Amino acid sequence: MDEFITLQQIDEAVHAVRQYTQQQPETGLILGSGLGGLADSVENAEIIPYEKIPHWPLSTVHGHAGRLVIGRLENQTVMVMQGRTHYYEGYSMSQVTMPVRVMQRMGVKNLIVTNAAGAINPDYAPGDVMLITDHISLIGMTGPNPLRGPNLEVFGERFPDMSKAYDPALVAAAEKAAAEAGIRVHKGIYICLSGPSFEGPADLRFLRIIGADAVGMSTVPEVIVARHGKTRVLGLSGISNKANLDGSTETTHEEVLEAGRVIVPKLTAIIKGVLKSL
Ligand code: HPA
Repeated sequence: MDEFITLQQIDEAVHAVRQYTQQQPETGLILGSGLGGLADSVENAEIIPYEKIPHWPLSTVHGHAGRLVIGRLENQTVMVMQGRTHYYEGYSMSQVTMPVRVMQRMGVKNLIVTNAAGAINPDYAPGDVMLITDHISLIGMTGPNPLRGPNLEVFGERFPDMSKAYDPALVAAAEKAAAEAGIRVHKGIYICLSGPSFEGPADLRFLRIIGADAVGMSTVPEVIVARHGKTRVLGLSGISNKANLDGSTETTHEEVLEAGRVIVPKLTAIIKGVLKSL
C-alpha cells in the first residue's frame, strides 16, 4: 500500500461503495473498540465488508468487525464504520484516515466519532461517557499528521484551522440528548498516542500535567482529516478503564472490550438524540 492515498484511489473506493447502495448518507459514524454494537440499531442496513472496497484499510484488532453499514438511524441516512484501523497496526496516517475521505466524497456533512479511552481525569470512572471538547494531537504534532504529504486541494487548504475541531453546537446537542436520557456525561480533552502499548505511570502523570482528561490511540487523525474537508465533528469517548497513575493495577484489552457493553446503550441514546436534532 502507498503511504499517501490519492484522490483517484479515494474515488475508486467511492465507486465500489456505490455498487452496494443507492442511499445517500449525510452523517458518518466511526465505532471504536467494543462499540460496534451501535450499528445493530441501523435500519434498512446495507452491509459492505471492508475487503470489498479497494484501498480500504482492514482492521486487524479483535473487537473491530470490519464492515461498513449504510442505512437509516433516526431521521438520517448514516454510513457507519463498524471497526476502524489505527496507526499502530502499521498503516500510514493517510491510510488510517482514508475512510473519512470516502465519506466526504460521498457527501457526508457530519462525522460522529467514538472511541474507547482510559480515564486520566480522577473524576472519571469506567462506563462513563466523555464528550470531546478538544484534543491534544500528541501523535501528530511532531510528525505523523494525517495531512502530511501532497495536499488534496479538492478537500481543503494546506494549513487548515483547528480552533473549533469539535462542533460546539453538536456538543450542546449531545449534552441535551444525554440529559433527556438521564445519562451523566463529562466534557473533556482527548489525547491521542500511538500505542499499542498502554501508558506507564510516568507517561500518565505527564499526560495529566499537560491537560488531558482521557487517553486513546485513535480519533484525532480522523478528526483532523474531517476538519480539513470542513466536515462537522462530534467526538465521544467511552471510558473503559482508569489510567493507573501510581502503577498499582494493569490495563488490558479485555477490560476495554468489557466496558463497551455498558457504554454502547449510553452512546446509542446520545447519538440517536443528536441525529434527531440535525
Ligand atoms: N490507554 C490508551 N488507550 C486506551 C486506553 C488506555 O488506558 N483504554 C482504551 N484505550
